[in-house]
Amino acid sequence: MRVTLSFATTADGYLDDNGPERLMISTPGDWEAVLRLRAAHDAILVGAETLRRDNPALLLRDPAVRELRRARGVRPDLAKVTVTRSGGLSPAMRFFTEGDADRYVFSQTEITELKDVAEVISTDGSITAAGIVTELEKRGIDSLLVEGGARILAMFLAEGMADEVRRAVNPRLTLGPERGGARFVFTPPPGAECRHEEVDGMEVTTCTLRPDTSAEDLGYLAQAVAAGRLCTPSATSYCVGAVVVLPDGRTFTGHTHETSPTHHAEQEAIRKALDAGADLRGAAIYSSMEPCSQRSSEPESCTQLILRHGFSRVVFALYEPDRFVRCRGARTLREAGVEVRVYPSLAGGVREANAHLQ
Ligand SMILES: NC(=O)c1ccc[n+]([C@@H]2O[C@H](COP(=O)([O-])OP(=O)(O)OC[C@H]3O[C@@H](n4cnc5c(N)ncnc54)[C@H](OP(=O)(O)O)[C@@H]3O)[C@@H](O)[C@H]2O)c1
Ligand SMILES: [Zn+2]
Repeated sequence: MRVTLSFATTADGYLDDNGPERLMISTPGDWEAVLRLRAAHDAILVGAETLRRDNPALLLRDPAVRELRRARGVRPDLAKVTVTRSGGLSPAMRFFTEGDADRYVFSQTEITELKDVAEVISTDGSITAAGIVTELEKRGIDSLLVEGGARILAMFLAEGMADEVRRAVNPRLTLGPERGGARFVFTPPPGAECRHEEVDGMEVTTCTLRPDTSAEDLGYLAQAVAAGRLCTPSATSYCVGAVVVLPDGRTFTGHTHETSPTHHAEQEAIRKALDAGADLRGAAIYSSMEPCSQRSSEPESCTQLILRHGFSRVVFALYEPDRFVRCRGARTLREAGVEVRVYPSLAGGVREANAHLQ
């Protein structure tokens, strides 16, 4: 999934004032650009405090865009997502009542009043950006627009879960601490590529924090999926293929049970790389399926193995189904700071290689 953060601030960094009415910071032309950005995403997320303060509907306004989405077989409005710890949300909010959209509420408490109007996702442990991205990806969402407020934006940036940031500053609007509400100051991290433009009087900065690597990823991932077809099907394990790619470009490929009846594909590929004297820190591993997080026949899961060797990227095509255990590989890797990319467009080949478990 690609994650974009988008927000507007006053010249002194406020997202809102402290009055009861919603403060419009964007100019009309900038607001149009934000609506176009929404249209380019699968889902939109705002924090519960933004719902309580502003009561936004979070809809796509352009009928043509809505029609295009319908033609693609998805609901006309973006999936709407929010996050709450307290559970303090009402089903009467426009988030729930307006538009034709899937709705997801990440909550640490059960919220029975919302069960008819949204899917309430209660994650075990605390709610993290890594967990949100993982759960939404499992539900078919491939791009997420995060519009705020301050605490939500800070959580995504602190966890390294933002790929792009769009900040629009209104240079003619200043609030000061007396009138200012939530404040958010974005400093591009080292290595970010930023461009600046003027949009209808707003100063817009767009930064790429993590470049789109899908073209290269799909090539290696296709090799991993093909390797998965070499494995001999068994009733107790998935047929998986894996490719380790070193920073110097060398690759090592393995598949399930290739040299041992208890080895997973990732272990086989990693073993070959280590035998060749490779240092795996900063390397990438491509696996046809999500790395496992729980093993009974081996002391270490593939997730632990990947973390122990210091891989920086993990790419896979299919989330592990809940057939044997509930896999937490992707979330655990992301929470440990590993970049995880998932390409469901290649999942068909993985399902075929595992037809024996259907
Ligand atoms: N200018 C803009 O572009 C823009 C965009 C969006 C919002 N805003 C403004 O931003 C202000 C709100 O910002 P804010 O920072 O106060 O609030 P927020 O980020 O919208 O929401 C914070 C709330 O989200 C929930 N939350 C956040 N992290 C969580 C976690 N890890 N686990 C569980 N729940 C979590 C909590 O909800 P509970 O309290 O329910 O537990 C928390 O109080 C509003 O005034 C709004 O107008 C401006
Ligand atoms: Zn494994």
